[in-house]
Amino acid sequence: MTIFENKADLILFVDSLKSENKTLGFVPTMGALHEGHSSLIIKALEQNDFAAVSIFVNPTQFDSKEDLVKYPRTLESDVALLKQISEERILVYAPPVDDIYGDSVTSVSFSFDGLEHEMEGKFRNGHFDGVGTIVKRLFEIVRPDKAYFGEKDFQQLMIIKKLSEKHNLPVEVIGCKIHRATDGLAMSSRNMRLKPKYREAAPFIYKTLETAKRKFGTNSANKVTEWVINEFANHSLLELEYFIIADIETLREVKRKSKLKSYRAFIAVYADDIRLIDNIALN
Ligand code: PAF
Repeated sequence: MTIFENKADLILFVDSLKSENKTLGFVPTMGALHEGHSSLIIKALEQNDFAAVSIFVNPTQFDSKEDLVKYPRTLESDVALLKQISEERILVYAPPVDDIYGDSVTSVSFSFDGLEHEMEGKFRNGHFDGVGTIVKRLFEIVRPDKAYFGEKDFQQLMIIKKLSEKHNLPVEVIGCKIHRATDGLAMSSRNMRLKPKYREAAPFIYKTLETAKRKFGTNSANKVTEWVINEFANHSLLELEYFIIADIETLREVKRKSKLKSYRAFIAVYADDIRLIDNIALN
């Protein structure tokens, strides 16, 4: 398996793949790979000749320096996991910060037609400019045919689809189902930082989403939201940051339900100092 640390070498390699008409699927990651990533990579390999995986903790998408410093960096075990999936058909791009940003570690300012102002955008200042900046750069370097993103970060997925559409990037952006642990907790690189009692408590998030989904069948969005807020107010370990039922097209909070629209419930919760997000399709 080839591991590229600089873009010049990767660009040459991708040139050679393209000259042989090989297709390339791409899974951008920040490392600390888990089964959720594996499922994206396996899908990329099923649908393409090769899969490229980037491992890069992108500084411009963190609104907290502490979160950036504490983000897990596990390159050695990441590479071992990738080798188990395929030694021959995976290429890894794991660059240092200056290979991406040069001397200026800053993000470009994007408009994603308002998607960026909802939910995560309200709570994580500048986050989606950072995500847009890195994903656009990675798409330009890797030049994949298809790119795979998990629906756990549903807002990110919608924003990347918008980025690709607005900037005419020749990449098909594919959303993939949330991968969950057997107790329901959505897979995330942050889970490995949870202390045992918080890890034990965390499946409450998905359980609450499932019940919220059932309640949404016969109750208004407001009623369901009130119920969720109350559930977390009574929880001794998990602190709710937001729960929102939103239209999946605009990501705006629903005021009145319409049978013609599709909705999803989105949640962000603190388990100690670890921020966990999740979501569920409601109809
Ligand atoms: O979802 C992530 O891991 C990151 O936001 C991404 C898409 C790799 C960009 O840094």
